[in-house]
Amino acid sequence: MTLEKTTIVEHPVVARDLTILRDKTTSTPQFRSALSRIATILAYHALKPLPLNDIEVETPIQKTTGSKLAKEVVVVPILRAGLGLVDAITQFIPEAKVGHLGMYRDEETHQPVDYYSKLPKGIEDAYVLLVDPMLATGGSAVDSIGHLKKAGVTNIRFMCLISAPEGIEHVNKEHPDVPIITAAVDHGLNENRFIVPGLGDAGDRIFGTQ
Ligand code: PRP
Repeated sequence: MTLEKTTIVEHPVVARDLTILRDKTTSTPQFRSALSRIATILAYHALKPLPLNDIEVETPIQKTTGSKLAKEVVVVPILRAGLGLVDAITQFIPEAKVGHLGMYRDEETHQPVDYYSKLPKGIEDAYVLLVDPMLATGGSAVDSIGHLKKAGVTNIRFMCLISAPEGIEHVNKEHPDVPIITAAVDHGLNENRFIVPGLGDAGDRIFGTQ
């Protein structure tokens, strides 16, 4: 597996919070707050390459050169679990538009099934952050990226909490232009295509639907 296009964000707070997320005794409120702290740190890294334009600003003292974002930012959560990562981006970019891609993984075939799509106008020119806590087989991410590309998007980054090497390889193979920002690369997948050791089903744990 090549990690050339993958950023693994290492930070003591991330390591502590990942452990909270992995712990099966963690309650829904504790799960949500640990998720939101990690997501904030990941978002900081995912937004680092944002292009800037110079602008003139006048301070109370004199004119100087400042910066403004050169591109619009659009966050696209893969429903449902990706919704838990949206606020991490919008706290930094309050004007970011949010697109939604609905996809669940069929429990028998493990293939992604599309059920919803709503993307904002002008997304083709935006800097798009596709977000989902889990990258397992990579099927959902690969399909979602394909969907965004079909809509004309050329600038896509994928942000996730936990990934399996299989998922990283799948995304790299199908979409080598899309960088991945993750907090952890786990050992692999079990026979049910769940990430091992992972944290179980992120969507169920975020929304209390276990
Ligand atoms: C989970 C997860 C990802 C997908 C990862 O979603 O949130 O979207 O599976 O698996 P993959 O990489 O093998 O495609 P799930 O199907 O549980 O739906 P949910 O978000 O509605 O819980």
